[in-house]
Amino acid sequence: MSADAKAVLTTHSPEETVALGKRLALLLSPGDVLALIGPLGAGKTLLVKGIALGLAVDDPREVTSPTFVLMNIYEGKMRIHHFDAYRLKSAGQMFEIGCEDAFYGDGVSAIEWADRVSDCLPAEHIRVEIEITGKADRKIMFAGTGQRARSVIDNLSASQ
Ligand SMILES: Nc1ncnc2c1ncn2[C@@H]1O[C@H](COP(=O)(O)OP(=O)(O)O)[C@@H](O)[C@H]1O
Ligand SMILES: [Mg+2]
Repeated sequence: MSADAKAVLTTHSPEETVALGKRLALLLSPGDVLALIGPLGAGKTLLVKGIALGLAVDDPREVTSPTFVLMNIYEGKMRIHHFDAYRLKSAGQMFEIGCEDAFYGDGVSAIEWADRVSDCLPAEHIRVEIEITGKADRKIMFAGTGQRARSVIDNLSASQ
C-alpha cells in the first residue's frame, strides 16, 4: 500500500506553468489521469499546453479549452485526451462522451473542472489544484493515492 503523495509548487508567470507542464509530461505513463481544478484563468489549459509540448504534439496551438466540444485529442509521444467539464451537469455526461475509453486506454487524460464530475474519475488519479495567488502567481497543489500518483508527484518535486 502506498500512502497519499502530495507536492505544492508555485509558478510566477504563464511560461513557468507551461514549463511545469512539460516536466510533468515526461513523468506520465499511459493510463494516468490528471484532475485539474481551479477557477477560470487559473492556468489549467496552459498546464495542458505544457504537457502537449512535453509529449511533442505537432501543433500545441491546437491546445484550447474544449468547452464546447468537451474533448480534444492531441497525438504526441502519447495520445492526450483533454476534457473540459465546465458545461457538464453530472458525471453521467462524461460517460456519454466516452471518458472510460480515454481513462483506461493507451493515452493520458486531463480533465479541466474535474471537481464537477468527480464521480467519473478512476479511484487512482492525480489531483492538480491551481490557486490564483497573485496577478502572475499560482500555487499548484498535486495530490494522489496509489503508486502511479506517488511516482509522478515525488519525481516532480525532486526535479524542480
Ligand atoms: N503563473 C501563471 N500560470 C498560468 N497562467 C498565468 C500565470 N500568470 C498569469 N497567467 C494567465 O492566466 C491565464 C490562464 O489561462 P488558462 O490556462 O486558459 O486558464 P484556465 O484553463 O484555468 O481557465 C492566462 O491568461 C495566463 O496568461
Ligand atoms: Mg481552460
